[in-house]
Amino acid sequence: MTAKTEQDNAVLDRIIGERRTCRTFTQKIPPDEMIDSIIHAGLHAPFAASAIGSTDDYFRRFVVVRKGSPAMTELIPLVFNEVVAMAGELERAAAKNAQLREQAAGFMNRLATIKNIGMVPGVGTAPFYIVAAEKKGFPPVEQQSLSHCMENMWLKATALGLGFQLVSVTAQMADNPGFCRITGLEHGKWAYMGCAIGYPAEKLSPSIRPSAREVTAWPE
Ligand SMILES: Cc1cc2nc3c(=O)[nH]c(=O)nc-3n(C[C@H](O)[C@H](O)[C@H](O)COP(=O)(O)O)c2cc1C
Repeated sequence: MTAKTEQDNAVLDRIIGERRTCRTFTQKIPPDEMIDSIIHAGLHAPFAASAIGSTDDYFRRFVVVRKGSPAMTELIPLVFNEVVAMAGELERAAAKNAQLREQAAGFMNRLATIKNIGMVPGVGTAPFYIVAAEKKGFPPVEQQSLSHCMENMWLKATALGLGFQLVSVTAQMADNPGFCRITGLEHGKWAYMGCAIGYPAEKLSPSIRPSAREVTAWPE
């Protein structure tokens, strides 16, 4: 390895290790330039070229919603109500299906907690809530593309010393006309994923995982 490669490698390993889910943010507002650079990182993530096909319109978009803005005030109840509706549907389905009840227990608990606290963590709890949108294509791999996009954004936010929280319920908002009106993207044509970004309120330890050797098979 050259000295530069070694240095790059060490920096990348450190950032990967420091990437954590941040769930509490300070009031301090990151500069817009930082948000631009995080979006730049998201744009450089891979995309499913053959699924998207040729399109005149760029297939990846971002919507930045500031805490306290009129758009945020409108979004908070929209997203909360979606979670409440989702919880209700799941409860009804689980009441009739023991396997689903067992499988979905953790997720149902999470939805119940959100219902109890009366808000969706990440929507209005950080200085920025960012929605990333990927145009729907065939096969429908938009959520996979958005995951790559989010991971690049997450690593960039980590490198900038910012906290990052995935807000995965954002995916369910793709069919919500009120939400789509706020994003300005045509209803039904886009898939969504979201994240909250701000300065972390507490220092998180680097992530703890098993060693690669523990979880890897190398068949001959
Ligand atoms: C598909 C997916 C969805 C997630 N959704 C949320 C979410 O909505 N809210 C949240 O706080 N964390 C969410 N997370 C974060 C995970 O809970 C977190 O990555 C995991 O607990 C490991 O912690 P770490 O990120 O600090 O290493 C999600 C992660 C993934 C991969």
